[in-house]
Amino acid sequence: MEGRSATASGAAEEPETPRKTQAKLRDIWPHIRPYRRTLVVIAVVSLIASAFTLVQPLVLQELINGVSSGETVTSALWLLVAVTLGMAGFSALQSYLLNRTAEGVVLGTRRTLVGHLFRLPIVEFDRRRIGDLMSRVGADTTLFRSVITSGIFDVVSSVLMFFGAVFLMATIDVVLLAITLAAIAVGTVLVLVLGMMMRRASQRAQEGVGDMTAAVERVLGAIRSVRAAGATERETERVGTEAENVYRQGVRLAALNALVQPVMSITIQGAFVAVLGFGGYRVVTGAMEIGDLVAFLLYLFVLIMPIGGAISAIARLQAGLAALDRMQEVLQLPPEDADEATLRTRPSVSPARAPVNSAAVLEFDHVGFAYEDGPPVLEDVSFRVERGLRTAIVGPSGAGKSSILALIERFYDPTSGRVLLDGADVRTIRRADLRRRIAYVEQEAPVLAGTLTDNLRLANPDATEAEMLAVLEEVGLTSLTERSNAGLGLQVGDGGVLLSGGQRQRLAWARAFLAGAELLLLDEPTSSVDSRTEAALQDALKRASGDRTVVVVAHRLATVADSDAIVVMEAGQVQAIGTHRELLTASPLYRELAEHQLLA
Ligand SMILES: Nc1ncnc2c1ncn2[C@@H]1O[C@H](COP(=O)(O)OP(=O)(O)OP(=O)(O)O)[C@@H](O)[C@H]1O
Ligand SMILES: [Mg+2]
Repeated sequence: MEGRSATASGAAEEPETPRKTQAKLRDIWPHIRPYRRTLVVIAVVSLIASAFTLVQPLVLQELINGVSSGETVTSALWLLVAVTLGMAGFSALQSYLLNRTAEGVVLGTRRTLVGHLFRLPIVEFDRRRIGDLMSRVGADTTLFRSVITSGIFDVVSSVLMFFGAVFLMATIDVVLLAITLAAIAVGTVLVLVLGMMMRRASQRAQEGVGDMTAAVERVLGAIRSVRAAGATERETERVGTEAENVYRQGVRLAALNALVQPVMSITIQGAFVAVLGFGGYRVVTGAMEIGDLVAFLLYLFVLIMPIGGAISAIARLQAGLAALDRMQEVLQLPPEDADEATLRTRPSVSPARAPVNSAAVLEFDHVGFAYEDGPPVLEDVSFRVERGLRTAIVGPSGAGKSSILALIERFYDPTSGRVLLDGADVRTIRRADLRRRIAYVEQEAPVLAGTLTDNLRLANPDATEAEMLAVLEEVGLTSLTERSNAGLGLQVGDGGVLLSGGQRQRLAWARAFLAGAELLLLDEPTSSVDSRTEAALQDALKRASGDRTVVVVAHRLATVADSDAIVVMEAGQVQAIGTHRELLTASPLYRELAEHQLLA
């Protein structure tokens, strides 16, 4: 949870402070667990492939020693062909199985990660940058793939090959082997040190990718404003700076990688020259046969392969572990409903979709609330929304109106006091059950990319086409379906950009109506429509609300003047409660608001 303080403020500027989470090799296990059988198969296949590779020099040794002593070698020749083919075949099979498994692991991680991401408490999305979260699902899971393909397996098969080769070399000549191993030991120590430095650099590089994605997302999310403000150049530069950061880490990684290569090749060449020189001398003196020396040198090459493999595997393993770090950081956060495990399942007040005639009573009981680390936003707020009635909340901007709705939806919980639905503290109701009973139109009336149908079915996946058309007519959007051939399949664009502001708002209304919930929360539902449409929407609301309880937040008092009750908010406190008529005399603030809007 230490990301909390680091990202709470100024998140766009400052990259997150280094986290303490350090993924270990054993943290990989849960991700590959489902594939353990396949992994065993792969292990067997790669064992066979390694065996073929190891046997090849032996066959060659037989062949050469046979030729030099003038024996017939036909069978040894055939054996050599068979061994070579077997080596190739099993290597290919191993590679295919391994990559298939890796894809499966990535699929699993992505599902888990996205599933978890979508369930995080709303405050996490206040704290974090969406772009960075996105890069964790995309870039980091992709990097994690290499943990499986090159990482674990190359390390395992490299180790196998290494010991196999060493064993067989020992059978040929122990002295030559000692020379070889001494050289390799020196190289290995150096490479391990470099590996640790690479881990840190990969981590920084991936954080950099996250920052960069966040910077791109920040601009694309407000591309029109950025264009209009003439800030395109500066924003491009800004993303460029983030990209440069990634570049620097990449170059650092390249430098470390580049160091690894010469270290290893000097080691290997040293071993090679020593073996060749000393071995050649022994062949001349007759202490060793020429075929043995050739076989030994071939094993030296066999040895080089796994060492090279292990080096690149270590590098990728480091990158993969750094990626796992970033994924785990998200996976460790408790999901929003984590506190519900112990919740007594209340007899569900509204099984499935609530019938509209079962309106709810909503009550705020001395509610105090502050956003994380912020000043109090609501103080001692108490009011009651009667069953089946329409209650309005009005007040100046920043008074805390939207925050009240957020508390009803349980995006946040109050810091003091209680929010009650039908007499039950909302904290005792499962969030899923609670939200099923509520339809909510956000202040910004968000529309999701996709078709009209996608948007309408968001809250009610079972809505029929007829129901959808009816509700569109109710909110005056029939023209949308009629104008295009696509009908309900009309694409609304990313965030609804292909619709007008008022159309977006009405689509959000339609979605809420269709949800059939007993409590309707509307935040500034008519801010983007003309007064005639507004009047039509008012009528629609009256018809659609039926026995529902409605809470509507509005600046425009015309929208709310005929509400059953009006709660006047100011600076987080309830200033007055009453009807329009009562408030005109009782509340100076209300009167002032009304006078400005020519309603008094
Ligand atoms: N997610 C958030 N995190 C921190 N502070 C917030 C958050 N959302 C709102 N605030 C702060 O809480 C206060 C009340 O905001 P709220 O959105 O409830 O006001 P409002 O009455 O709906 O205003 P408006 O009429 O402009 O929509 C504001 O000072 C705002 O800065
Ligand atoms: Mg608001």
